[in-house]
Amino acid sequence: MRLNLVRIIFTCFCFSLPAFSFCQNATTLNLMPVPEKVIVKTGAFRLDSSFVISITGDPGKRIYPYATRMLQRMGNRTTLLFSQAYLSPQTKTEKPTCIMHCDSPGKVEMNMDESYQLNISSGLILLNSATDIGALRGMETLLQLLTCDSLGYYFPCVDISDKPRFPWRGLLIDVCRHFYPVDMIKKNIDAMASVKMNVLHLHLSEDQGFRIESKKFPKLQQLGSNGSYYSQEQIKDIIQYADERGIRVVPEFDMPGHTSAWFVGHPELASLPGPYEIGTTFGVFDASMDPSKKYTFKFLAAFIKEMAKLFPDEYFHIGGDENNGKNWDNSPAVQEFMKKKGIKTNDELQKYFNKKILKIITANKKKMMGWDEIFTPGLPKNVVIQSWRGKDYMKGAALQGYQTILSSGYYIDLSKTAREHYLNDPLPDTMKIEEDAKKYILGGEATMWSELTTWENVDSRIWPRTAAIAERLWSPSAVKDVEDMYRRLEIVSIQLEELGITHISNREMMMRRLTGSDSIEALKTFISAVSPVKGYRRHSFRKYTTSTPLTRTVDIAVPDEPAVVRFDQCVDKYLQSKEDSAGSQIILQLMTWKKNNAELQKLIKKIPALNEIDSVSADLSLVAGIGIDCMDYFEKDQKPGESWLTQQTALLKEIKKPRAEIDIAIIPSIEKMLEALKESK
Ligand code: ACM
Repeated sequence: MRLNLVRIIFTCFCFSLPAFSFCQNATTLNLMPVPEKVIVKTGAFRLDSSFVISITGDPGKRIYPYATRMLQRMGNRTTLLFSQAYLSPQTKTEKPTCIMHCDSPGKVEMNMDESYQLNISSGLILLNSATDIGALRGMETLLQLLTCDSLGYYFPCVDISDKPRFPWRGLLIDVCRHFYPVDMIKKNIDAMASVKMNVLHLHLSEDQGFRIESKKFPKLQQLGSNGSYYSQEQIKDIIQYADERGIRVVPEFDMPGHTSAWFVGHPELASLPGPYEIGTTFGVFDASMDPSKKYTFKFLAAFIKEMAKLFPDEYFHIGGDENNGKNWDNSPAVQEFMKKKGIKTNDELQKYFNKKILKIITANKKKMMGWDEIFTPGLPKNVVIQSWRGKDYMKGAALQGYQTILSSGYYIDLSKTAREHYLNDPLPDTMKIEEDAKKYILGGEATMWSELTTWENVDSRIWPRTAAIAERLWSPSAVKDVEDMYRRLEIVSIQLEELGITHISNREMMMRRLTGSDSIEALKTFISAVSPVKGYRRHSFRKYTTSTPLTRTVDIAVPDEPAVVRFDQCVDKYLQSKEDSAGSQIILQLMTWKKNNAELQKLIKKIPALNEIDSVSADLSLVAGIGIDCMDYFEKDQKPGESWLTQQTALLKEIKKPRAEIDIAIIPSIEKMLEALKESK
């Protein structure tokens, strides 16, 4: 029997809106990324304080502290005190309940062996791997399998055989536009390891900052950074920390463009005399290195040699993007040089520059990498292309035999949903590409550009969405059930907190600061229905600088609010099946959003920094009201009049115009409801 609205509202108070459930899906369990092969057996390994790990084979050093941390995380989740406090090569165990066997220690490098097998039966857990890095990946799987029921904590019995689909699964962090302390980088390394990512790409130099100590050229960081940069000791510490977690660190020094900060201390490197200042605004600057001087390459040879020694990874990124060539056009010396050399265009000149840099990088036994602007005819085949302007650049590079990684579609600074990133496969089944070229596609990288993030909210921009990208790059291409991805993402999101990731906790801190109190419920409810505007639109609302406070409502809002994701799913389900429980959840949520405005307005009146959301809050209430009306029509099996439908559609169109750099994120679902009513008979 269909429920009418009154009954639905009554039912709502009997149902509690489930935040999410730890129920495990039969094949994906709560695993993210989903392993290559999972066989779920019957039974469970019941966890108690007698859990004992034995490590066998020739695993090297990494595995012991990692296993110790795993034990601590298991203890923290379950409150169990295990008899084993820590593991070391000296640990002797009798009657282990978990045996980890590694054939040999792995080297953290491109194409490292990350495979593992995990067999859980009711009495024993076996984790086998060729290298210790595989064991680290397997331990994260084991941790994700830990669950509970009324009898206690347990691991489901499974046989898992796993390895990554792509060898390069990275996260770029831009530490230049805004700087992040070492501890934050380390926590993000832990988070990356928890979802089996393996490359941290540090974007270390920019117009807005030079963020690493050079001992050879100390003016680079001293004059180019406002004092916020990583010392070489800190960089070594980060690299060591990442290595212990099976993660490579690839440095990027963007050149010849994006280089204003270099020139504050070393204007002699620039195409025009300057003087230069550290950039405080954003966008593409004109500053560019001078390729006409021998000195430039002498300087860069010494600098790259110093950095190549510091970073053990084989890959060395030179950026190469967005060099607009204006300062080359305006430099008589550069123009004279081009004439002398027969170089006709700025693209050709950049090619000349890249060739010289490639020689330096190769002499330092590194592989050069750059953004897709460096992909020009005749480029030597040992250069790696990182594609950001479109998948076609990646495909084009692969077809011509260049190694390449994809970042286009993984720009997590653009406030897109996890869904959009998740469905962006570097190598979808539908891509027409020769079999032979596929091996050149190494994987991808999420890119955290930091124009609009600070240490306070960057975690909420990176996580949990990056976990969905991690899955796209690790799991088989057939794993693409978006609803199940979101189910697991909510669980992983909570687990990320135990690693110190502040993507949830800092948002509430920011709300408390904004309201000056701990009465944040109304603001929280409002934020649960909105998202920052997508793409680079925020920059069209105001001129942002490096010191603009990023503490507003939009800086707390996130692209993929769990409440919106759940609401959208309920609407889809309801429109398909008119299922009562989905209907109840929709109504309850809409009522909460509708009545929130009255409470929030009291706060808005008191807090000047909230004035900007005044009309958005009122409009959220209106939108929710339209949704409730739609539900009423559905439940009564009635079709509204044409004029009502036209009016509501026009209203939504008007409300869609963003204010306070915020979108009301539930509008698309309400539009779907209106559309369904329009089509109903
Ligand atoms: C880039 O986003 N300019 C690489």
